[in-house]
Amino acid sequence: MRRTFLITGGAGFIGSNLVHHLVATRQEAHVVVLDSLTYAGNLENLAELEGHARFRFVQGDICDRATVRSVFEQYCPDVVLNLAAESHVDRSIDGPGAFVHTNIVGTFELLEAARAFYRTTVDRKNGFRFIQVSTDEVYGSLGPEGLFEETTRYAPSSPYSASKASADHLARAYYHTYGLPTIITNCSNNYGPYQFPEKLIPLVTLNAMEGATLPVYGDGKNVRDWLYVDDHAEALLTASEKGIPGETYCVGGNNERTNIEIVTAICRNLDELAPRASVHEELIRFVADRPGHDRRYAIDSDKIRRDLGWTPKTAFDEGIRRTVEWYLSHREWCERITQSRYRRERLGTEAMPAGAS
Ligand SMILES: NC(=O)c1ccc[n+]([C@@H]2O[C@H](COP(=O)([O-])OP(=O)(O)OC[C@H]3O[C@@H](n4cnc5c(N)ncnc54)[C@H](O)[C@@H]3O)[C@@H](O)[C@H]2O)c1
Repeated sequence: MRRTFLITGGAGFIGSNLVHHLVATRQEAHVVVLDSLTYAGNLENLAELEGHARFRFVQGDICDRATVRSVFEQYCPDVVLNLAAESHVDRSIDGPGAFVHTNIVGTFELLEAARAFYRTTVDRKNGFRFIQVSTDEVYGSLGPEGLFEETTRYAPSSPYSASKASADHLARAYYHTYGLPTIITNCSNNYGPYQFPEKLIPLVTLNAMEGATLPVYGDGKNVRDWLYVDDHAEALLTASEKGIPGETYCVGGNNERTNIEIVTAICRNLDELAPRASVHEELIRFVADRPGHDRRYAIDSDKIRRDLGWTPKTAFDEGIRRTVEWYLSHREWCERITQSRYRRERLGTEAMPAGAS
């Protein structure tokens, strides 16, 4: 049976990987992407799907009520996956306003449009789902022990994570107040193809490919859990197919690494794939830490594994190898971004003492 998926933010990193995964793995899926194409949105990420019978792209802002409502009216989605967001912590330090606008107001507009649509679309009620795609960063920072789980208290520490936390609260409230079948997923750090070069893994890979310095914040010992993006895409689809409305699912790779371990892994892969006169690790430089930098995130994804049968398939060594290979073979994609939108300068220095960056 035909099912229409509305994917907001589908021209970004996770969104575009999700679109490719969905079209490839679900033959009944028709996909509509709604994306305003901010600096992070890139139509090139979806170029292979141009003209595809089961794919449509709409350029538009999730904060724009008329646009959002008309997309619901025209395409009548069975599933909404909300990935449209301002997503970079460092940018949220320099300019929190855009984060409040898109991540909170935009999610509100989508929920309102979904509520109006759901109330009046009786025949498709049973299958309708609104998946709010969120992050483990809403839980704040962990000490050396313990894991985030669905019942962990929210304690966001950056404007980014605070705006995502607000959106989660709205999505949950729309379930309890209006019966809208919302589901929240809180995922750990993703990596893979098409990630915008401001984030750690592509930034380090691209700098290392050019022999430029590899900036590592603080002592490099901040810990994150890493999940290959395709595994996240499958988790989101699983949540939309088998998840229980009103529930939250934590999604993670059970793969904790310090930032310096990540950088070292990239360097070692590049030593084999694109050797230079000396090893890439020599390019590492420790720089002033990010203000409010959470020390450790780690996630317990037992619930989605046990209740929905999801499990990540890509081991870190394989995923990071594939990612480094992808950046090596997509230099033009990278160059077009760095020439027009982002020159790999340091961001998020607004809250630092003068001269600290
Ligand atoms: N990247 C991660 O590691 C990670 C981990 C967990 C959760 N998430 C969440 O997943 C989602 C996607 O993250 P990402 O890394 O792909 O982000 P991204 O920055 O790569 O992509 C965001 C996309 O949203 C679009 N967008 C931004 N504002 C918009 C607006 N007002 N209207 C319509 N489109 C808009 C952009 O053009 C872009 O295509 C975000 O909600 C993020 O919080 C990300």
